[in-house]
Amino acid sequence: MLQIACAFVALLCAGVSAQPFQVGTGFGPTGNLRSVDSGGPYNLTLLSVQQYETRAGLLARANYTDKDRIAFLTNVECLEGRFDTFGTLGLDFNDNLTLGSLPTYGFGKANLSADVYQVMSEVAASEQGHALFTRHAGSTVPCPVVNYTAGFNDVLAVAYGLTPPQDISVLFGAPWDPYHSDETYLLSVVFLEELGATGNKGLISQYVNPVLADGQAGLAASATAFAAAERYLLFQRANNTVYPTNETVAQVFARLSAFRDAYDGPQIDDQGLLNTDPRTIALGEANYINLFPTDIRGLTFSRTPQQLINIYTIGSPQGIGGFFPQGLQGVIKTPTGFDQVAGGLDTYPVTANAYTTGQETVAQVGTIAPPVTDAGPYTVPDMLTIIQSQGGLLETSSYTTRGYLPAAPVPYTIAATPKVMVGTPSGQAVDDGSP
Ligand SMILES: *[C@@H]1O[C@H](CO)[C@@H](O)[C@H](O)[C@H]1NC(C)=O
Ligand SMILES: *[C@@H]1O[C@H](CO)[C@@H](O)[C@H](O)[C@H]1NC(C)=O
Ligand SMILES: *[C@@H]1O[C@H](CO)[C@@H](O)[C@H](O)[C@H]1NC(C)=O
Ligand SMILES: *[C@@H]1O[C@H](CO)[C@@H](O)[C@H](O)[C@H]1NC(C)=O
Ligand SMILES: *[C@@H]1O[C@H](CO)[C@@H](O)[C@H](O)[C@H]1NC(C)=O
Ligand SMILES: *[C@@H]1O[C@H](CO)[C@@H](O)[C@H](O)[C@H]1NC(C)=O
Ligand SMILES: *[C@@H]1O[C@H](CO)[C@@H](O)[C@H](O)[C@H]1NC(C)=O
Repeated sequence: MLQIACAFVALLCAGVSAQPFQVGTGFGPTGNLRSVDSGGPYNLTLLSVQQYETRAGLLARANYTDKDRIAFLTNVECLEGRFDTFGTLGLDFNDNLTLGSLPTYGFGKANLSADVYQVMSEVAASEQGHALFTRHAGSTVPCPVVNYTAGFNDVLAVAYGLTPPQDISVLFGAPWDPYHSDETYLLSVVFLEELGATGNKGLISQYVNPVLADGQAGLAASATAFAAAERYLLFQRANNTVYPTNETVAQVFARLSAFRDAYDGPQIDDQGLLNTDPRTIALGEANYINLFPTDIRGLTFSRTPQQLINIYTIGSPQGIGGFFPQGLQGVIKTPTGFDQVAGGLDTYPVTANAYTTGQETVAQVGTIAPPVTDAGPYTVPDMLTIIQSQGGLLETSSYTTRGYLPAAPVPYTIAATPKVMVGTPSGQAVDDGSP
């Protein structure tokens, strides 16, 4: 009883002393994100990426209800799920899942090898489940009108420095065909999957109802797991040339990643199949896989619905174009505010090594030196630098360059196993001094 009273008083006291927020507006740029639970306040200084994501989410939450968010999610899960289901199995969602027969263009069945087919079969089933989640949670909007041909070709065009409706046939004599091979299908699938994974996470902090937030977290976790599996399958094929381009899987992936990063606002977040940024968990060894993009704590990134819409519709202020020729279903349908997300990886404290990275624009990525040789595309210059233009001390994978230090080595015993300390720029454990 006493505890409850104290907690209540603490909440009241904090409520009186803290800056009040206007109902429905979330935290503005100057708001503070200090918790007012009885254990706080907490020092969030080192969680700058999460602070910015939370601010962006709370701003994006304004004007919308949970029902609106669930309806938005239907667009995301129908887009991914129908592509995965038809491309893998040659089947479409049933009417109880689509809730209508709005036309969809550009369906095809992909030419997949046995191992990719096996993984994608579970992915497809899972994505149907994600769409079902939105129905169980009360979404009543139909699956949106989608044009996969237009969506992927617009994305690839921009990723190669062209302007839609131009497509890559201008460069390579044929347009992008997502269904052509393992490589083209997995690249297309993971492009959408990672928008789903980051967009799913971004919605978690926006729900008012914790049951929906719990379901959303499960959805984000499974999308992330499947994206990692898709990355691994692509990594095994990293040096294969991707039809119809003359570039490798790793290079085309880098272009798609640069595209997503360029269209989701000014901050750095997206990462390619290979990555050496020391503010992320991605080993600096050349040709080590970046299994999933995270920050240095291994935390995945978030995107707001508005960021996703800007990517899906290739920067259309009206949210019409790309994958959605008639726009999205529901009321969250424009990218307004997608760029109000300043911060991201760029805000992670730079270490004493003064290693810096900056996001290249799609145009800066430009033409990649052809990797094709008689022996095959084995050398792939620029793979490591295509996402980040890098300066300062080159990442050596020594941990020193990655912002934290291993403990001094000690003889190996069960009681004295060598330890590393992750999570602080200095490598020292930090008591944040919160009262
Ligand atoms: C919310 O509404 C306000 C006022 O109409 C508008 O300025 C703001 O852009 C809206 N936010 C979003 C994310 O649509
Ligand atoms: C949709 O659900 C209804 C009611 O549960 C059922 O009768 C019908 O067979 C379902 N339709 C499809 C296409 O699964
Ligand atoms: C499917 O892909 C295999 C190689 O993965 C290729 O040999 C075959 O010709 C392709 N089939 C079609 C119909 O494109
Ligand atoms: C789908 O997009 C393609 C490529 O932009 C376009 O040629 C086609 O007409 C579109 N289909 C429909 C039905 O709009
Ligand atoms: C790859 O395509 C680009 C764009 O058309 C071209 O500039 C480059 O020379 C090509 N490389 C090879 C090896 O064909
Ligand atoms: C791709 O090429 C690089 C550089 O030659 C090589 O180190 C790597 O093992 C190759 N990866 C695969 C999956 O073949
Ligand atoms: C919060 O943590 C940072 C980084 O460890 C530290 O520099 C700062 O002094 C702390 N602030 C407070 C108010 O404890």
